Amino acid sequence: MARAVPAVFGSEFHAQMPVLAYENSAWQPVRWQSAHDLALAPGAHALHYGSECFEGLKAFRQQNGRIVLFRPQANIARMQQSARLLNLPVPEEGAFLEALVELVRRAAADVPDAPAALYLRPTLIGTDPVIGKAGVPSDTALLYILASPVGDYFQAGAPMKLLVETENMRCAPHMGRVKCGGNYASALPWVLKAKAEHGANQVLFCPNGDVQETGASNFILICGDELVTKPLSDEFLHGVTRDSVLRVARDMGYTVNERNFTVDELAAAVAAGAEAILTGTAAVISPVTSFVIGGQEVAVASQERGNALRKAITDIQYGAAADRYDWLVQVC
Ligand SMILES: Cc1ncc(COP(=O)(O)O)c(C=O)c1O
Repeated sequence: MARAVPAVFGSEFHAQMPVLAYENSAWQPVRWQSAHDLALAPGAHALHYGSECFEGLKAFRQQNGRIVLFRPQANIARMQQSARLLNLPVPEEGAFLEALVELVRRAAADVPDAPAALYLRPTLIGTDPVIGKAGVPSDTALLYILASPVGDYFQAGAPMKLLVETENMRCAPHMGRVKCGGNYASALPWVLKAKAEHGANQVLFCPNGDVQETGASNFILICGDELVTKPLSDEFLHGVTRDSVLRVARDMGYTVNERNFTVDELAAAVAAGAEAILTGTAAVISPVTSFVIGGQEVAVASQERGNALRKAITDIQYGAAADRYDWLVQVC
């Protein structure tokens, strides 16, 4: 029988998790422990100085019963980049991938059927128990991976109202490409304000009018046969889904234009009938239904192209279309 999906995204976990420790200047062999608690010194570096980063990727149960990971090497590379930028020990690709695959194998019974998935949350923390290390990196670290059966983060087909935020930024501009907890804490005041004051589902961060990303996903404008999205920079997270959508869209005949664009251009495009999507591992591909720009709500005329792009990506993930980009790693 198919695994039931908890009502709250990310609230239940597979009982075991792999833990890789960095000690004595070397990564140690993987060990397995309960995923319900973790022994940590109260003085641990991550708890005081934010030496923490994480990843989010999914395993899918395909139509033929096989279980696959979607582009795990891309998430490993992004965590390696986050670790470098945070001066944390950089995880080794081989042991990291092996731990991911073995976790999904052990949690196979927890992988739900389409349209749900098993969400994987690798987390890297600095563990030095020395509170005097405010200006010094942690010499020791732990990498552990949680597995959680999840349904939709944003319910498919539900309204997706974005508040366009032009005054505040999501995080410090040099930290945007780092997937670290501090960036989400930094965005939270604006996310809560947008919900309370405008009933918005997400905030589209556009500091000084520069359209960047939302609090938990990338943003792509669809103007007829052209996709427009901000080029990769330090300011925002380099999404694996964003990259996948751009690849698939090119093969579907779209022109992909990675360029900076402003809120004024966005407003004019939407008024002229453009679509817009959010892309992310949790968000999947969520078509935007309206924007709040300068206090005014503007409806997006169509979600058709966004939904077609969503289908093109999820068909690969669930095995309804060929894995023509070699994105899937088969687990079992
Ligand atoms: C701030 C932010 N931007 C973009 C993304 C999309 O990244 P990905 O497609 O790799 O999940 C996420 C989600 O992980 C995110 O939290």
